[in-house]
This record gives sequence, structure tokens and C-alpha cells, in this order.
Amino acid sequence: MEIGAGDGARTLLRLLRDLPGELRAGESLAAHTTFRIGGKAFAFYQPAIEDALAEAVVRARGHGFPWLVAGGGSKLLAPDEGYPGLVVSTSSLRSWREENGHVVAGAGVPLAQVVRWGGWRLAGIPGTVGGAVAMNAGTKYGSIAEQVEWVQALLPSGRVHTFRPEECGFGYRDSLFRRLRLPILSVGLRQDRRGDVGPLLAERARSQPLDLPSAGCVFRNPRAGLSAGWLVDQCGLKGARVGDAVISQRHANFICNLGRARAAEVLELVDQVQDRVVRQFGVWLKLELEVVRE
Ligand code: EPU
Repeated sequence: MEIGAGDGARTLLRLLRDLPGELRAGESLAAHTTFRIGGKAFAFYQPAIEDALAEAVVRARGHGFPWLVAGGGSKLLAPDEGYPGLVVSTSSLRSWREENGHVVAGAGVPLAQVVRWGGWRLAGIPGTVGGAVAMNAGTKYGSIAEQVEWVQALLPSGRVHTFRPEECGFGYRDSLFRRLRLPILSVGLRQDRRGDVGPLLAERARSQPLDLPSAGCVFRNPRAGLSAGWLVDQCGLKGARVGDAVISQRHANFICNLGRARAAEVLELVDQVQDRVVRQFGVWLKLELEVVRE
């Protein structure tokens, strides 16, 4: 059953309508996730300025609405039934101030822009700066935490705080911002190597199914040197399918959407994989994918 836009949606829209930016009712989340999955959100808001992002979250939270900040939507699995709250898109927050090997970037700056400026090790990662910092995105060559100088984020109290790197709680695909759900507004980065990203992109295109909608790697690697993709592959699960959700033949840590996959089908496949891998290897695969629940 799809969640309808009733009084709740109207209340939320009324709460936000004076804020600068674009506010839409009933926006399909499938259109805003790389998985191309997800029902409609009560309110979909693209703030024009960083302060407005903070204010929207404070207001929604204050009135008990669920909320989430979607960066590039590249790690999100949104519910088929829709989202009875506020989805904030950072796509308009693209401020960029560069000086002497440092940059101040808005949360919605595409990561590809950082790669071109000086972020060689991040080549090929989709999404935005805010999303990448929240999940400490990276490749086998390193992760974005290595370039972070500071992060400006919204605290649960509604205050904005500037976090020094050692306060960010970075770990493998993890940070304080992700754990505590602190929306990131802007980030200070130091320039890294520019370098030729051609070979990195070619390797990614060879080993990953970039031609179909997906959310990248679904599971975290259990530890350095042990790849979740390898474990799933060894279980013979490539090609396993539930509805239109399928384990990629090219990389077993990718679930692809063959066209009309539903979130429920992806989750069923996730269960099957976790079950098989724990039985065969005694390893419980943890999700890297961000499953949106209310
Ligand atoms: N492998 C298989 N079968 C598969 C997939 C992989 O046997 O289906 C083997 C490969 O042959 C290789 C090993 O597993 O020997 C590692 O594979 P790969 O180089 O693809 O690295 P990965 O650990 O699977 C990680 C990141 C990727 C990132 C690549 C390249 C995680 C969970 N994944 O993958 O990140 O692109 O390294 O740097 O950390 C993502 O985060 O969304 C993502 C795709």
C-alpha cells in the first residue's frame, strides 16, 4: 500500500513553505536514488542555502516527522510504500571556494568535482561531498577522511558545529555523522593528487556493473583483505534473483535493478545472501547500503 498525502503531508509542507529553495509534494524517491527504487515522499525539499537545510530538519524533527538527507542517493534503498516525512536533497548546495590547495565545498558538490580538483583516490565514486564524508567513501587507494580538514554539521540541539578531523569518528565506511545522523552542511578539504584517473575508471568499469541501476556495494568488507564480493561469489550466488533484483554476474557485492525491482525484493535477496554466507563461512555480512526506514 502506498502512503497517501493526507493531513500529515499538508502540515509538513506548511511548515517548510517559507524556506528558500524548491519544495515539492509527493516526489518519487525512485527518481532520486541510483537504485531507481522508492515510493513518494510527503515533502521533498531542495534548500537554496545551507542554513535552510538546517532549519528544515529542525522544524520537521520538532514536529515529529521523520527526515533524511539524500546526497546523490547513491547508497540509499528507499521504501516502496513511500516516506511519510521530509527528504532533503543537497543538490543545490554547490558552493565551492578554493584557495592554496584547500577548498570549502557545499554538501551537494558532486564528488567528481573533487576528483578533478585533487582527489585521485576517489575516482569513480558516485554521489556528493556530504554523502561521501558521512560514509567515509573510498576505494582501495584510500578514503575521503584523509583529505578532510573540517566538517560543518547540524547537532541534535539545532546548533551548527564545526568538527575537526579527530572529532569526526571516521572509520571504514563510517563516521560520527552517519552514526548520529548529523546532517553535513559543508566541508573543508585539502587537495590530494590529481593524477590520471583513466586506469582507475577503466578497472571499475571492467569489474563492476555500472550499466545497470544499483547502489554500489551492498555489504561492507568484513575485514581488510576479505572482500564481501568474493564471499558471495564463492557461495555461487551470482545471478541469484528475487523479482527484478539480481546479484550481478560481474561483481557479487552489487545488487542490480533489472527494471522494476522493489525495495522488498532487494531486502529479500540481502537476507538470502547473509544467510548463505554465514552458513558457508561463518561470517555475518553487514550492510553498507543505507536502508531507509521510517
Ligand atoms: N571478487 C570476486 N568475485 C566478485 C567480486 C570480487 O572473486 O564477484 C574478488 C576480486 O577478484 C578481488 C577481490 O574479490 O580479488 C576484491 O574485489 P574488488 O577489487 O572489486 O574490491 P572489493 O573489496 O570487492 C572494494 C570496495 C568498492 C571499491 C573497490 C575498488 C567495499 C565494500 N567495496 O570492493 O567500493 O569500488 O574496492 O576500490 O569496500 C562501494 O563502496 O560501493 C564500492 C563498490
